[in-house]
Amino acid sequence: MSLQRYMAAVTCAVFISTGAVSGQDQIKAVGDEVTFRPTNINPPFTSIIWKHRSGSDVIKAIEWDIDDGFSIPNPRFKDITTLDNTTGHINITNLTLIHSGVYTIDINSKEQEKRFTLKVEKPVPKPETEIERISNPDVVNLRCRYSETIIWKNAAGKTLNGSKNHLPGEFITVENTRNQTNFYTCTLKNDVSEKTSDRVYERDLFKGEDVKNTADSVPVFIFPQIFLLVIVCVF
Ligand SMILES: *[C@@H]1O[C@H](CO)[C@@H](O)[C@H](O)[C@H]1NC(C)=O
Ligand SMILES: *[C@@H]1O[C@H](CO)[C@@H](O)[C@H](O)[C@H]1NC(C)=O
Ligand SMILES: *[C@@H]1O[C@H](CO)[C@@H](O)[C@H](O)[C@H]1NC(C)=O
Ligand SMILES: *[C@@H]1O[C@H](CO)[C@@H](O)[C@H](O)[C@H]1NC(C)=O
Ligand SMILES: *[C@@H]1O[C@H](CO)[C@@H](O)[C@H](O)[C@H]1NC(C)=O
Repeated sequence: MSLQRYMAAVTCAVFISTGAVSGQDQIKAVGDEVTFRPTNINPPFTSIIWKHRSGSDVIKAIEWDIDDGFSIPNPRFKDITTLDNTTGHINITNLTLIHSGVYTIDINSKEQEKRFTLKVEKPVPKPETEIERISNPDVVNLRCRYSETIIWKNAAGKTLNGSKNHLPGEFITVENTRNQTNFYTCTLKNDVSEKTSDRVYERDLFKGEDVKNTADSVPVFIFPQIFLLVIVCVF
């Protein structure tokens, strides 16, 4: 066999085998339900076993046989898992992160080739932005300190490119344009959800702009002293 034909044969074999075993992949949020529907399985069924594999751990999710009926041996699947013994369909509700992994089905004690992959993800939290002041009083950095995908937008709906530095998440640099209605938002996104922060108005970022830079920083130092005075006076 020539090298090219050999390569083609190997490529085909790899393609066919991955095609046969990859099955359907599903991504769900915590709390969702999932149903896996195997095809090409033919009644009559005398036993059905769904197995869950995660890492090197293999457990039975649910099983049925014609003599003993249904059973769910592992607490991980109790009360949330159902099996249709006419179709082989499995249904799992109230999903949590530990249900992620690969599911396989044995029909009449024979493992089927098809694999069903499940990835359960937490919905993203509603993000909060952090303000980082720098030496220039007309500029601040707005940070979204999260590891998920971050999308910044301004009031006009334009997407802004965030920057990264040594801190977690991304920041944008906002300049004071003295526009009362301009604002920014940070949106977090993963495979199962998307949430947007409250609007951060430019006017709230540059409140003390009419006061001189030095005067601006004075209240920060005065307030603790007032509190101290109050405490001292009370006692
Ligand atoms: C499904 O399981 C129930 C309970 O074990 C049984 O009564 C019923 O006959 C089964 N149906 C089939 C098609 O095997
Ligand atoms: C599944 O979730 C629903 C709604 O969140 C809840 O009412 C129910 O108790 C949960 N069931 C189990 C078995 O965890
Ligand atoms: C899965 O189970 C839940 C709860 O019993 C049910 O509401 C839902 O319709 C089922 N889904 C499928 C596809 O069977
Ligand atoms: C934002 O990033 C994209 C992709 O990296 C790039 O094509 C685009 O020019 C950037 N825009 C700005 C304003 O820097
Ligand atoms: C101020 O910002 C808003 C929102 O982006 C925009 O619609 C408006 O045109 C801006 N005004 C000026 C004077 O630039």
